[in-house]
Amino acid sequence: MEMKFKMMKMMMMLALTLLVLVSGSFVAANQELRRKKQILPPAASSSATKVGSSVVFRVLGNVYPIGYYYVELGIGYPPKRYYLDIDTGSDLTWLHCDAPCKNCPKAPHPLYRLNKNSLVPCAESVCAELHSLEKNICKKPTDQCHYKIQYADQGVSQGALVKDVFPIRLTNGTLFGPRFAIGCGYDQQGSKGTTSPTDGLLGLSKGKASFVSQLQSLGLVRNVIGHCFSSNSGGFLFIGEDLVPSSGIVWTPMSRNSIDESYYSPGPAELYLGNKYIGVKGLQVIFDSGSSYSYFNSQAYKAIISSMMKDLSGKPLEITKDGTLPICWRGAKPFTSFSEVKKYFTPLTLRFKSGWRSQQQMEIPPESYMIISKYGNACLGILNGTEVGLQDDNIIGDNFFQDRVVIYDNEKQKIGWALADCNRISKSGVVLL
Ligand SMILES: *[C@@H]1O[C@H](CO)[C@@H](O)[C@H](O)[C@H]1NC(C)=O
Ligand SMILES: *[C@@H]1O[C@H](CO)[C@@H](O)[C@H](O)[C@H]1NC(C)=O
Repeated sequence: MEMKFKMMKMMMMLALTLLVLVSGSFVAANQELRRKKQILPPAASSSATKVGSSVVFRVLGNVYPIGYYYVELGIGYPPKRYYLDIDTGSDLTWLHCDAPCKNCPKAPHPLYRLNKNSLVPCAESVCAELHSLEKNICKKPTDQCHYKIQYADQGVSQGALVKDVFPIRLTNGTLFGPRFAIGCGYDQQGSKGTTSPTDGLLGLSKGKASFVSQLQSLGLVRNVIGHCFSSNSGGFLFIGEDLVPSSGIVWTPMSRNSIDESYYSPGPAELYLGNKYIGVKGLQVIFDSGSSYSYFNSQAYKAIISSMMKDLSGKPLEITKDGTLPICWRGAKPFTSFSEVKKYFTPLTLRFKSGWRSQQQMEIPPESYMIISKYGNACLGILNGTEVGLQDDNIIGDNFFQDRVVIYDNEKQKIGWALADCNRISKSGVVLL
C-alpha cells in the first residue's frame, strides 16, 4: 500500500458484549502459549548507548514505495513479534486480532490471539480515558471495553481492549514487563483482501490511553517522543528525554487550539516556496506520523501547485499521470536521482510563530516533498486535504519528516525538529547535521 492515512477522527464506545465472538479462540490461545518456548524480548534495540531511562526502537520502512515507518515490538508472554505503524495522530495501540477477525488484511505476522482472561472491563479508568468524549459508556462494570475508531481515511477499526505484557528494555539496560492496554482489533473495515506491511498501530498521540502515556504513568520515562525517519529507509524512535540534543533543535510551543486536543500541532503556519511567500497563512497543521504524505486544504494546495507551475514554465517538464500520486512530472529522460529533481524544484518552507516576535521554520527540500516513481517521474507528495474530507486540518506526514529528528515534548509542551542522521545514534544521542 503506497498511501495511508491514519489520523484518528473520532472514537465511539459501545458497551457491547463480545463473548460470543471470543469464546472459541481462547482455549486454543492458551495451548499456543504453553507450546512456545520462552524467548528473549526483542522489544528495544540495543543501539542506544547513553545511560538513562529512555526506550529506543529501531524503525523500519520508508515513504515510497512502502508508505510506512514502523517498529518491531514484542508483545505477550512469551513475546511474539509484531510490526506496528508509528502513529502520532492517534492514541490507541492495537493489533489485527484473531477473535476471530473480520476484514483483517494479510499482515506480516500471525494475528494476535485473544486471551479472554486479559479483557479489560469497562469500569477500568483506561477504558474511560479512551472514550473521554462520551459519557455513561459503561452500563455494567464487568462489560468489555469495546472501541471503534474511525480514521480520517475512512478506515474503521473495531475491537476490545485487553491488557498484555510489553517487554521493555530501558537505555540503562534494565528490563521491564509492564502490562499495557491495547486494542484487539477484530474488525478492520476497508481492509479485506488487502495486504498490510504492519500488524497494527503504535498510538503515540497526547491521549491518556496512548503507549507513551501508559509508559510515563509507570514513572520510568519522561513523556517525550522523538522520531527520526531516514530517506534511505529505517531510522529510530525514542521515548524519554536522554537522546534529545541539548542544542541545535528548533522549538515551537505546542498549540492547544487544535480541533482535537490529542493532536500535536506547532500552531498556524505560513507557506513559502523557494523563499517566496505564496499567500497562505494561518494554516492549522498537525504532525501525524501515521500519514505517508502531507495534506493541505484546497486553497493552500492550489497556491502550492500554481507557484510550482510558474517556476516550471519554460522547463522541459510535462505533467503526466502515472498512477503513483495525483500529480507527476515527466522529464526529458526518466529521473534516476534527486540531484536531477532538485534542478527544477525548490524547497517549501513552513513558518511558525513561536512567540510574540519570533518565527521558527521548517524547510522541506524537494527530495522530501517529491518522490521519484517507479516510472522515473517526479511526483508531488502533497495532496488535497479537502478532497479527503480534512476541512481545516492540514497534515504534515512522514515525507516532510524525512532525515530530521522530530521531538514531541509533552512535559514542556513544545515541539522541535532539526536535520539529523537517522541511520545512527551516537553515545551522546541524536546526530544532528
Ligand atoms: C534504570 O532506570 C530505571 C528507571 O529510572 C530505574 O528504575 C532502574 O533502577 C535503572 N537501572 C539501572 C541499572 O540504573
Ligand atoms: C480539492 O478538492 C476539493 C474537493 O474535492 C475540490 O473542490 C477542489 O477543486 C480541489 N482543489 C484543487 C486545487 O484541485
